[in-house]
Amino acid sequence: MDYIKEIERRRTFAIISHPDAGKTTLTEKLLLFGGAIQVAGAVKSNKIRRDTASDFMEIERQRGISVATSVMGFDYRGFQVNLLDTPGHKDFAEDTYRTLTAVDSVVLVIDCVKGVEPQTERLMEVCRMRKTPVIIFVNKMDREGKNPFDLINELEAKLNITVRPLSWPVSMGSSFKGVYNLYDRGLYLFTPGGNTLPDDDAVAIDDLDDPLVDKLLGGHASQLRDDTALIEGVCAPFEKRQYLDGNVAPVFFGSAINNFGVRELLDTFIAIAPAPGARPADLRAVAPDEKSFSGFVFKIHANLDPRHRDRIAFLRICSGKFERNKLYHHVRLGKALRFRSPATFMAQEKILIDEAYPGDVIGLYDTGNFKIGDTLTDGEKLMFHGIPSFSPEIFKEVINTDPMKSKQLEKGIQQLTDEGVAQLFTQDQGNRKIIGTVGELQFEVIQYRLLHEYGASCRFSPLDYFKACWITSEDRQKIKEFSKYRTARLALDKDANLVFFAESKWNLQRSIDENPKISFHFTSEFKTAANTVTA
Ligand code: G4P
Repeated sequence: MDYIKEIERRRTFAIISHPDAGKTTLTEKLLLFGGAIQVAGAVKSNKIRRDTASDFMEIERQRGISVATSVMGFDYRGFQVNLLDTPGHKDFAEDTYRTLTAVDSVVLVIDCVKGVEPQTERLMEVCRMRKTPVIIFVNKMDREGKNPFDLINELEAKLNITVRPLSWPVSMGSSFKGVYNLYDRGLYLFTPGGNTLPDDDAVAIDDLDDPLVDKLLGGHASQLRDDTALIEGVCAPFEKRQYLDGNVAPVFFGSAINNFGVRELLDTFIAIAPAPGARPADLRAVAPDEKSFSGFVFKIHANLDPRHRDRIAFLRICSGKFERNKLYHHVRLGKALRFRSPATFMAQEKILIDEAYPGDVIGLYDTGNFKIGDTLTDGEKLMFHGIPSFSPEIFKEVINTDPMKSKQLEKGIQQLTDEGVAQLFTQDQGNRKIIGTVGELQFEVIQYRLLHEYGASCRFSPLDYFKACWITSEDRQKIKEFSKYRTARLALDKDANLVFFAESKWNLQRSIDENPKISFHFTSEFKTAANTVTA
């Protein structure tokens, strides 16, 4: 197959949801349809049920045995579908944000009983920021949920995006009859049960006035006619371009556990979801069909076996063909690297590969060369941007409790923060270390891993900061003046960018108001200026 065709048949995406909406179940059913697994129950949930480091580590260990769960690739109707896993716990939301930089589109799962939940709103914000195309799957239609029209309104209001139903449910809960596909005009009748593949059982219905509809749906037929007429009257016709631009999100209804609506979702997904597209880098945009190779690291998975310190760096290929054993240029280090055993992932298995294409995610064994956001190229000195660090919300100072192990602690903190577990800020020429996270659980995980992987121990002393933001100004003098009386509340991030710790919302707003020549940024992606607040 030629190079262009290889790119065009790739669909790289992530499923995102609030915990419990059905992400794991849907993932598993997609793999079932893709023939990547034969029975349900093969996909391990990444849900942390007890909010403790040991629970998290246990899940990571089980999953670490097959890091393959980070990327699940399968072939479906001639398409290479790459499904990237995202963590289920809110404290690891940043990991999810980074994964979103490596995909071309997203499927968002909503629980029809609960509607839009807080984590969904935040995830969707990131998609909107990046203009990522989103398909919404309203799950659990076998339960008594919210009225579908109310749900549609709620989706639009809370997710801030125009939605367009492409299927519509016929009743729900105990009387759920199925869905009518407004896109291909097929009626899919619901039968519960779902660990095996159902037949493709759509009944083609071109005209909803056909008496067959009454025969199949009984008393629910007229409701479907009314609902459909209302949707067609109110919603603009679906336009693929609008979806690809991130302006309109098509909506499907189904029940993942019952295998219902999943094939439809997958068939529409491969038909409309984007193939790998151009990616912005600092020097220029990189098109996937360029011959020279480029890619970036968006995730680093520690090998949780303490005897082997190796890690796996996950690299998203942006352009060119990747080849095993070829020398590539590590742009940040200015170093040539060769990869002898790059891996790709087919569902549960990790497979050694000789080549990979744009859109693919490959695992590279790493002995400490990579950190999140690193770019590999054929030689060109470009860096992809778009691996943002978000402003953390919880801050603690690291206190070494075993002075004999200072070096181990230093190395551990550096490596764990390179992995993106948390953000590191330093003061006093690096002597004072402050860790910033979005959740409490990360501190426990850091402490646990420092002890088990590096033999270092520390405790954390809480700091009462509200937010950290990156500050810049075209006028160096302004930064100097700002810094003069605030040295205790300024630090450097790992790339030596200046960071300001605001003690309260009020204090932050005042600092912004009083310093019009200084820009305050809430993600590290400030070169793109999308998240800048200047008074
Ligand atoms: P998550 O990864 O988004 O956190 O959700 P997950 O798939 O683990 O699903 C959360 C719960 O919802 C699970 O039940 C799952 O069986 C159930 N579920 C998923 N899809 C559907 C659906 O279409 N209908 C109904 N009624 N339930 C669904 P659980 O009791 O938490 O776990 P389990 O013991 O069944 O594994």
